Amino acid sequence: MSGRLDGRVAVITGTASGQGRVAAQLFAAEGAIVHGADVDAAGAAETLTLVGGSMTSSVVDLTDDDAVKRWIDGLGPIDILYANAGATRFNGVAETTFDEWSWVLRHELDIVFLPVHHAWPHLTDGASVVLVGSTAGLSGSVTNTRIAHTATKGGVIAMTRQLAAEGARRGIRANCVSPGMIRTPATEGDLLAADHPMRSIEEHIPLGRIGSAAEVVRAALFLASDEASYITGANLVVDGGWSAVLPG
Ligand SMILES: NC(=O)c1ccc[n+]([C@@H]2O[C@H](COP(=O)([O-])OP(=O)(O)OC[C@H]3O[C@@H](n4cnc5c(N)ncnc54)[C@H](O)[C@@H]3O)[C@@H](O)[C@H]2O)c1
Repeated sequence: MSGRLDGRVAVITGTASGQGRVAAQLFAAEGAIVHGADVDAAGAAETLTLVGGSMTSSVVDLTDDDAVKRWIDGLGPIDILYANAGATRFNGVAETTFDEWSWVLRHELDIVFLPVHHAWPHLTDGASVVLVGSTAGLSGSVTNTRIAHTATKGGVIAMTRQLAAEGARRGIRANCVSPGMIRTPATEGDLLAADHPMRSIEEHIPLGRIGSAAEVVRAALFLASDEASYITGANLVVDGGWSAVLPG
């Protein structure tokens, strides 16, 4: 049976955990050769075992310009770049120190810009770039104050449109998936923890539940594949209707 990504070279960041791990599994199952990277060596090794022969895995701090360049330059031509990795901290405008602001920008914007920047010359004509935004980039939150995260994810969505503009002449498509509340190790450790005010958020999600990593990755797979051949510059929200509906 043929896969939706047969023979494609897919570079995926943040493959040690959560959505990145599921992406490595699903993209490989669809026939792609996956090159993953993460700063978490143990998690990345576990993913490699789960995926098997059609994946390579590198330990890279994706906020380090030279390290990202070294990794990407060693990979050859790239058909798909899925810039998924990220880490964040949540705080309101008054509480966010400049250090914290800078840390979040590094871990949510530099971590996207650097792989895209270094991969750009290696992207094949007709390549597909998928970035990961968030519903946090579309609206503010009274429950989870997050000035830096809101700014970075809004930035990722805006960056997608600029990449679509710059890539079009080479047939490069650039799109974004914006997850709402998804159960992953990241959210289990903060927003979905028993003592966090966001834990009961599913009451306000029209589909009545938290999403899964696979539900986001399937949207990214669609955007990465030829099925989305006339889609570029789009932001596909995967949030169970959360951002579409006012509470109450
Ligand atoms: N889970 C959600 O509810 C949710 C919602 C909206 C957006 N997102 C976005 O989805 C993406 C994946 O999130 P997730 O929930 O799977 O998180 P996760 O924490 O499970 O996975 C993120 C991965 O990125 C890696 N990473 C972080 N900093 C790195 C660095 N400097 N260098 C290399 N790797 C690094 C981590 O080690 C981890 O393996 C992120 O961009 C996140 O902002 C998640």
